[in-house]
Amino acid sequence: MWLYFKIGLIALAIMVLLAFDISALIALVSAAPWAPTRKKAFAAILRLAKLKPGQVVYELGSGDARVTELLAQTGARVVAFEYSLLPYLVSRWKIKHRKLTGVELKYQNFFTADFSQADLIYCYLTPYAMKKLTSKFMAELKPGTKIISFQFPLPQWPAQSVDQSFSGQAKIYLYQKN
Ligand SMILES: C[S@@+](CC[C@H](N)C(=O)[O-])C[C@H]1O[C@@H](n2cnc3c(N)ncnc32)[C@H](O)[C@@H]1O
Repeated sequence: MWLYFKIGLIALAIMVLLAFDISALIALVSAAPWAPTRKKAFAAILRLAKLKPGQVVYELGSGDARVTELLAQTGARVVAFEYSLLPYLVSRWKIKHRKLTGVELKYQNFFTADFSQADLIYCYLTPYAMKKLTSKFMAELKPGTKIISFQFPLPQWPAQSVDQSFSGQAKIYLYQKN
């Protein structure tokens, strides 16, 4: 009986949390809902990123932090932005329990962040978000900064390469700021 009460209470707490997760709605409308990068793409992402220890990666919308973890394992410093409460909390838990180092997880709308410190940007968003980000990338990224976008290209910005090595359908776009 007590167990059912506890389960009910937890379920209620989760429902209340989701109902008040306005930021998730903002994230959904402003850029993308949560969908994970497929693990099959990880090797290709690492190959394109060519990260060196100490380099700074900004992940725009980090979801459950699977790519954050992958990139942090290279010795890079990863600044991960997530504005949806549930994936943010899952990521916090993951970072703590897996003792991930070099990760700064921010509960923040990435459109309000300054990207000028990034050596690499990683994102898996939507065509709409990529269009909105183009002018921000142009204005803020330092020369040489790479952008890796899973699935969606930056409009009117020629990609340096398009990787399709892990699947016939999904593409990974690589850009570099002049
Ligand atoms: C398609 S998922 C990708 C997650 C992760 N990068 C991956 O590849 O597995 C996009 C994520 O971006 C988050 N997001 C969308 N708009 C955002 C915003 N404006 N600021 C911060 N996070 C945002 C969503 O909540 C979602 O978790």
